Amino acid sequence: MKLLFVVGARPNFMKTAPVVNALKKYAGVECKICHTGQHYDAKMSDVFFKQLEISEPEYYLGVGSGSHAVQTAKIMTEIEPVLLEWKPDILVVAGDVNSTIAASLTAVKLGIRIAHIESGLRSFDRSMPEEINRILTDAISDYLFVTEISGVNNLKSDGVDDSKVFFVGNCMIDTLVKFLPVIEKTDSLSQYSLKPQNYFLMTFHRPANVDNPEFLLQLSEFMKEYSGEYKIVFPVHPRTRSNMEKAGVNLNDINNLVLTEPLGYIEFMSLVKDAKVIVTDSGGIQEESTFLKVPCVTVRDNTERPVTVDIGSNYLAGTNFENVKKYVDLILSGKGKNSVIPELWDGKAGERIAEILAKK
Ligand code: UD1
Repeated sequence: MKLLFVVGARPNFMKTAPVVNALKKYAGVECKICHTGQHYDAKMSDVFFKQLEISEPEYYLGVGSGSHAVQTAKIMTEIEPVLLEWKPDILVVAGDVNSTIAASLTAVKLGIRIAHIESGLRSFDRSMPEEINRILTDAISDYLFVTEISGVNNLKSDGVDDSKVFFVGNCMIDTLVKFLPVIEKTDSLSQYSLKPQNYFLMTFHRPANVDNPEFLLQLSEFMKEYSGEYKIVFPVHPRTRSNMEKAGVNLNDINNLVLTEPLGYIEFMSLVKDAKVIVTDSGGIQEESTFLKVPCVTVRDNTERPVTVDIGSNYLAGTNFENVKKYVDLILSGKGKNSVIPELWDGKAGERIAEILAKK
């Protein structure tokens, strides 16, 4: 049996690696990786292949950046010849990025079955490109692998047949469990003169936030306010950096602010582990912080990962910074919630998926 794994953007790498690795022990299953090139900077892509010990992709499409239509179309036209030539039995995609839907849409029309890692998540906000990518990919997938119970319920509501849905746990957490010993040995803190529990870790990259100059201004005010007592570490996504420059938001005069390039997986997770609080609009970081029981304040109006708020260490604050401050102050006062790690986030999701796929 031939499986083609498609990756494209940063969060795909840690979700896909555990499944590829787990399939190695199954004789008769051949896996190849196709990297679309949606993310192409060394710090957004190569570093993850090296650190997560993922083998070099057999196919690299080099599509790069563009509008949604251009990027999606380029992935489709570039991946079609790969599918026609290698003829995989199953295409395996992950998450909700443009590469996920573009590859799936191309494959389904060639009669290739689709397996979707991290299926069923819904923010119920159709203004998010990721929500559209999730709904469409799930609609054409044959094997839907779900990370949390909300996903099973969402797929049921969408009328997906139970026989296609597999609640397997979270592959992103598999990667975290596997590399935790390395992360614990890595001292990223001293590099930035940080002490455990004495700094905030912040990331922002969602277009709905960072394309809005008013949001960027409020963000810089927030940083100023807390950077007296705490250091603030802010690895900046390329989109955010360029928008800040355009909006004329200057962070250089904020004391105690450490601005960095996007960080590698190991460095970033070692900063997550010891942070006092995380403030972010990321999807994956809500889950990783929940697993590590580090308080996280999510600056969005909704989350497609509700288990992280219901029982995990995540707080959904909306995009008004007065509300963000309310949650941050609650956490700083020591009155934050006691959180629990969600069901099946145990490092074995990739093995469960491999066992199912190997029999298909
Ligand atoms: C994409 C995903 C988003 C995910 C995020 C993780 C979609 C619709 N969005 O958003 O769900 O959370 O990845 O990072 O697929 N750029 C670079 N170098 C790179 C990649 C991008 O400079 O290696 C810049 C380009 O100016 C580009 C912009 O970042 O136009 C945005 O990149 P893009 O891949 O379109 O989306 P992300 O914002 O990264």
